[in-house]
Amino acid sequence: MTVDRRDVIVGAGLAAAAGATLAGALPAASQPQAAPQPYALPWDPPDPGVPGRQSVVPVPEDFHNPGRFAGKTALVTGCARGMGQAAARRLAREGANVVGVDWLEAEGKAVIDAIVAAGGKAVFVKGDISETAVCDAMVKAAVDSFGGLDCALNNAGVMDAIFPGDVIDYGKQKGLVMSRIDEATDDYWDVVMRVNATGTFRSMRAELRQMMAQGRGGAIVNVASVAGLRGFGGTPSYVASKHAVNGLTKNAAIDYAPFGIRVNSVCMGTTVTPMYERAFTLLRQRAQAGYRDSGVGMAKIDSLLQMSNPKKAGSTAAEQVAVMLFLLSPESSNLTGANYATDGGFTTY
Ligand SMILES: NC(=O)c1ccc[n+]([C@@H]2O[C@H](COP(=O)([O-])OP(=O)(O)OC[C@H]3O[C@@H](n4cnc5c(N)ncnc54)[C@H](O)[C@@H]3O)[C@@H](O)[C@H]2O)c1
Repeated sequence: MTVDRRDVIVGAGLAAAAGATLAGALPAASQPQAAPQPYALPWDPPDPGVPGRQSVVPVPEDFHNPGRFAGKTALVTGCARGMGQAAARRLAREGANVVGVDWLEAEGKAVIDAIVAAGGKAVFVKGDISETAVCDAMVKAAVDSFGGLDCALNNAGVMDAIFPGDVIDYGKQKGLVMSRIDEATDDYWDVVMRVNATGTFRSMRAELRQMMAQGRGGAIVNVASVAGLRGFGGTPSYVASKHAVNGLTKNAAIDYAPFGIRVNSVCMGTTVTPMYERAFTLLRQRAQAGYRDSGVGMAKIDSLLQMSNPKKAGSTAAEQVAVMLFLLSPESSNLTGANYATDGGFTTY
């Protein structure tokens, strides 16, 4: 039995990279508007004709290397939810002093409070990382609370211009939603570029100034996306901003290698977090409102590991955090300036 990839797109539409491919999971005007088909591949349910077929088991959520970051101070932007939350918790479990930053005050503070309640050392800074004053304040918090800064995970990012604290309501948020260039608003372009590209620049500037002043090196990991390595239909600002994150990463690696500061980025595909859930809700509402995308750029929606998984599961936050923390740790001493595809093989084919 063969499966036409377009059938998969018209099917249940479990997606790949941060919303970009979610759009392609929706019926296109140029395609027959068939009723959604069950999302099935030849081995789903497992094909008895293929001995040994199995899925890769994700690293457990509580996996950690005790003491790996003992005595180090690590800053994590976007600590309230998703990968930032998982990274802040694991860094603390591995002994780091953690500075968590988010513009969602109650959720971000709850994460940091839970770390402290479990015996970790952590402080919370509320703010928008696209503002210079907030970036300076988060680094100052590291210095004031823990005496300096060793590692930074610049993870905060958005896919659309909807504030993550707002409930998804496509009818009211149309102008903020990811769209093709001819349909995109200035708000969509400006907010996504400001948070993802400018925010990463301003975060790194504050972090690098402190690391330079300390004179003891450091490690920075920027969170990009597979959308920073290739195009995705219908998400111009996200794709441009994540390419900017990868460009900034390479540039900083060049300028700061002589100071013992390593800078890398991670480029994930679909990772199951609140961002993913919200994007799916948004695009579903948009489809229900009658929107049809051009249907071209979404022929590929799954990573190799998703295709090999009966549930088509995206990667987990724990899987992404495992790579982020490796790149922040001394174990990755030979690595700088790379944009790592942490994408289950998505960009391989
Ligand atoms: N989830 C995916 O499938 C996926 C795929 C590729 C890349 N990414 C990237 O990974 C990163 C983390 O994504 P996630 O899925 O965990 O998202 P998420 O929305 O679940 O969590 C992101 C966190 O960052 C915070 N944040 C966003 N903008 C901020 C700002 N300007 N100032 C302060 N805090 C801010 C949010 O409030 C939230 O707590 C993002 O940069 C995202 O673009 C995600």
